[in-house]
Amino acid sequence: MNDTDKEIERLRKQLSQLEKMSGLGYLSAGIAHEIQNPLNFVINFSKLSGKLLKDMAEILQDVLISLPDETRDDLQDILKDLQGNMQKIEENGSRASNIVKGILLYSRGREDEFIPTNLCQLVKEYVWLSYHAARANNKSFNVTIQEDYDEHMPLIKVIPQDFSRAVLNLMNNACYAVNAREKCASEELYSPTIKVSLKQKDANIVLIIEDNGGGISDEVKEHLFTPFFTTKPIGEGTGLGLSITKGIIEQKHNGTIKVESMANRFTRFIITIPIQ
Ligand SMILES: Nc1ncnc2c1ncn2[C@@H]1O[C@H](COP(=O)(O)OP(=O)(O)OP(=O)(O)O)[C@@H](O)[C@H]1O
Ligand SMILES: [Mg+2]
Repeated sequence: MNDTDKEIERLRKQLSQLEKMSGLGYLSAGIAHEIQNPLNFVINFSKLSGKLLKDMAEILQDVLISLPDETRDDLQDILKDLQGNMQKIEENGSRASNIVKGILLYSRGREDEFIPTNLCQLVKEYVWLSYHAARANNKSFNVTIQEDYDEHMPLIKVIPQDFSRAVLNLMNNACYAVNAREKCASEELYSPTIKVSLKQKDANIVLIIEDNGGGISDEVKEHLFTPFFTTKPIGEGTGLGLSITKGIIEQKHNGTIKVESMANRFTRFIITIPIQ
């Protein structure tokens, strides 16, 4: 095979990988939608059961007085446990429901609509979604995530499903980088860390995602935002993440994306978008 043939073959494989992923995105929207219905049942019935338990506790109060001490204590303990369990079911059902809603928004949010958004919440959600995805794919993966958010930030107008995609892309790269360095395992003292910071600076929002993975060489840096440029093996990267992210930040949000990196020290992506 000559070089052109090899290049064509590589692009063909990447395209097929991409096709698989877009199919997966389509499917996950359907799955998310279908999961939302049973989740609503879980949440509503646990709420209802919580109320019923409260009613029952009130009714039982009069009855309990007439019972022997030990039986009364047992009954009260059981009642308390049941109420606690019900609350946990409701809380975790709601959590799952928020994740599902996030996936739905991600895969089929209305195109190019700017919505006033709690950016801290959005960033946080996708930071942890990326972390859990990495964990689910690789049980031995671990990383310390240090978050620094300006919680008093006003609502910021962004295209939420696009901005979250940018966060996810950068986080996925960061997770991959720290994991790759950890796998080399030549350094015993290496502690994989990702730092996320979101701050308002004058009329801009600045998001920084920094990892302490292997870093980016100058040679790679040149092609970083080129579509289909990847250093990852087939199946692990399509090379689209950063070119899509750049488009989202620069074209859609009028912002900038910059990268700073030092070999085996850090890689820092800095996103700045003007507040509208
Ligand atoms: N945090 C990082 N640390 C080290 N290298 C990075 C980092 N982020 C990106 N890169 C380099 O830039 C290349 C391009 O990144 P990009 O996100 O565009 O594609 P990808 O991650 O390879 O694939 P995809 O994101 O489409 O799954 C990567 O293959 C990697 O070599
Ligand atoms: Mg990527």
